[in-house]
Amino acid sequence: MHHFHYKDNLLYCEDVPVREVVDAVGTPLYLYSVATLKRHFTAFDSAFDGTPHLTCFAVKACSNIAVLNLFARHGGGADIVSGGELFRALKAGIDSRKIIYSGVGKTVAEMREALLADILMFNVESAQELDRLQQVAAGMATRAPVALRINPDVDPRTHAYISTGLAKNKFGIPVDAALHEYERARDMENIEILGVSCHIGSQLTQVEPFIEALRKVKDFIARLADRGITIRYLDLGGGLGITYDDEQPPDPHEYAQAIREELGDADYTLVLEPGRVIAGNAGILVTEVQYTKVNTGGEEEKRFVIVDAAMNDLARPSLYGAFHEIIPVVQDDRPGQRVDIVGPICETGDFMARDRMLPEVRQGDLLAIMSCGAYGFSMASNYNSRPRAAEVLVGGDCFRVIRMREDYEDLVRGEFVVELDCK
Ligand code: LLP
Repeated sequence: MHHFHYKDNLLYCEDVPVREVVDAVGTPLYLYSVATLKRHFTAFDSAFDGTPHLTCFAVKACSNIAVLNLFARHGGGADIVSGGELFRALKAGIDSRKIIYSGVGKTVAEMREALLADILMFNVESAQELDRLQQVAAGMATRAPVALRINPDVDPRTHAYISTGLAKNKFGIPVDAALHEYERARDMENIEILGVSCHIGSQLTQVEPFIEALRKVKDFIARLADRGITIRYLDLGGGLGITYDDEQPPDPHEYAQAIREELGDADYTLVLEPGRVIAGNAGILVTEVQYTKVNTGGEEEKRFVIVDAAMNDLARPSLYGAFHEIIPVVQDDRPGQRVDIVGPICETGDFMARDRMLPEVRQGDLLAIMSCGAYGFSMASNYNSRPRAAEVLVGGDCFRVIRMREDYEDLVRGEFVVELDCK
C-alpha cells in the first residue's frame, strides 16, 4: 500500500502532482511519501505490540536524515553498519540507546565512535572482532555491549547476492564456534553480553526461513543458558520482502504473528531491523525521456527509450537484474510498445528495464520508476561523473527538498591537481 496514484490521468504523490515537483526541482529525482513511510513503519512496529520489541530501521536502505528523523519521531531505532551511518542516525535524532551496530568489518575508529555515542549493542561477527572490541573498550575504560551474530545456515530463498544466512556467506559465526565465542566473551572484562543476533537475507517472500532461523537461535539461546549465559535481546535482523512485480510476501502482521508464535513467552526483547519493507514502496525515481530510437540490423528490431536516470542513480536492475515497475507521469491512451529503458552511461548493463511493454513513450515524457525507496538513492554513485539526483519529501499537499541535486563542484570536492616534483 502506498500513496502514489493517478488523478485525472496525472500521477500524484499524496496530494502533490509529480509534475509540479519536477517543474521545481528537475530530473532525475527521488520522491518519498511521508504518509507511506509512516504507515509502513507503524504497521510493522505495531504488528509486534504485546511483545517487548525494538524496531531499528536499517539505515542502509534509505539513509537521508529527513527520512530517518520521521522514524525517530515514531520511537524507531537504527541498524547501522558504518561510522557514517552512526553519524547520520545521531544527526537525524535517533536515540543512541536504540542503535544496533551490525557488519563484518568494523574498524577501531568506528568502534570508538560507537562506544562514545553509547549505542545499545554491537552485533559482533567474528572472533577477531570480539578481541578487537575488548581491546578498544578496555582502552576507553568502558564495557562494550554485544550480541554475537550467529550464522544459522538457513536458505532465505532469495537472490544469491543478498542471501546472508548460509554457511558459505561471509556473515556471522557458525553455531558451534559461536558457543565457544560466548564463553570467551563471558570472561572478557570489557565485554558485556547482551544478546544474540542473526540476519539471513533480504527480499524474503516467505515466512518459513525466518521461523527456521528463529528456531535455531532459540535452540542456541537454550544451549547458552545451559552454560549459565543469559541474554536480554534477540535480534532477528531484517529481510521482509515487498511486491515489485508479482511477489506475494507475507504482510508485516502475518510475519509478526508467525514470529510471536514461535517465540512463545520468552523473556527477552525482540530486535528487528527492517529496511525495504518500510521504505521500498514509499519512494519513486522520476526521470525524463531524452531520446527514443530504433536499432535495426540485428535479429530483431530493438526500441530504446533513453532516460536521464542511469545505473548510477538506481543500481538494482543492473546489479541484481531487479524488476521495477515503470509508469508514465501523464497517462493517456497511446498504444503499447515493447522497449528497453536505458540510461546515458556507457555500459550495456545500464538499463532500468528490458523488453518492457509500455504505452508509447516520446521525447520529453516523464516516467516514474516505482519501488525505489529502499536501496535506491542510498546505492547511488557518481559514475560517469554524474551528479547525484535530488531527494524530495512529500507530505499531504506540500513538498520539501531533503537533499539538493549535486552540481559539478560537488563532483570534484576534495580533489586536487598536484605537481609531483618529489624524487
Ligand atoms: N540488517 C542487516 C544486518 C542487514 O544486512 C540488512 C540488509 C538489513 C538488516 C535490512 O534488510 P531489509 O529489511 O532491507 O531486507 N542492496 C540490496 C539489498 C541488500 C541488503 C543488505 N542488508 C537490494 O537492493 O536488494
